[in-house]
Amino acid sequence: MIEVRPIADATLGARVSGVDLRKLDDATFGEIEAAWHEHGVLVFEGQFLSDEEQIAFSRRFGSLERLIVGGAPDPEIAYLSNVRPDGRLIAPEGSYALFLLGNTFWHTDSSFKRVPAKASILSARRVPQDGGETEWADMRAAYDALDAETRARADGAVAVHSYRYSQGRIGGVDVLSDAEWDALPPVEHALVRVHPATGRPNLYAGRHASHIVGMDEEQGRALLEKLTADAVQAPRVFAHHWSEGDLVIWDNRCVLHRGRTWPGDQARVMSRTTIAGDDAGNEWSL
Ligand code: OGA
Ligand code: MN
Repeated sequence: MIEVRPIADATLGARVSGVDLRKLDDATFGEIEAAWHEHGVLVFEGQFLSDEEQIAFSRRFGSLERLIVGGAPDPEIAYLSNVRPDGRLIAPEGSYALFLLGNTFWHTDSSFKRVPAKASILSARRVPQDGGETEWADMRAAYDALDAETRARADGAVAVHSYRYSQGRIGGVDVLSDAEWDALPPVEHALVRVHPATGRPNLYAGRHASHIVGMDEEQGRALLEKLTADAVQAPRVFAHHWSEGDLVIWDNRCVLHRGRTWPGDQARVMSRTTIAGDDAGNEWSL
């Protein structure tokens, strides 16, 4: 029997023990999937999966996005890493550093795509001594906490999501080639979405959300920023301080996440798989 321990004092997240993710029968997977739908984020400590094992576990949740950033040989898995192939650490300036910087702002993965990622899985290969935590925020509870007037404004609103906007804001537009940018026009997503498995409504925004259709651009942006700032408050957040071998899966459809910084002279290597949205075709991700 697996043990699911919700994160204390938070509306989301649970730690799961009593399972080896390499040896998962269908019944146990069913328990894990149900717990994931309930808690939004599951932490599995000390799993130490190989890339192949992580891919196999990830495929249980759906088809995987191909990854175009990270330079990994296997396109279904990529590394978020500040370690270069020669073992030296990546300089804190430069386009890859800007890509990593983008992850430190609250976001939901690839919301700038027509069909955003359903889930993301990170596992820790090398962890820094200090910092480098990942944090998640519960956008279902954030929706529930809205006052009636704000909820009425949010319901039915449509947000424009754009990677050019979010990367431009941090000066990181050279992370992609012109052709890659051309393939990424702004997309629209409802600001309030209903989770297909649980039926719970949630706010859907984050750093790629630029403005709101039909609203003055600055006013829409201010509303999005206020909604996010209010959302990411206790008890709707929790942080995981990584140890090597840990694996976390989160539901991009209803939680935001961000990575915390760490000293530039310490290595951090994370393996990353991404589960495509259910109506995605052959999708790639960043
Ligand atoms: C990601 C991400 C944050 C982190 O992998 O999508 O945002 O803590 N990571 O590495
Ligand atoms: Mn991310």
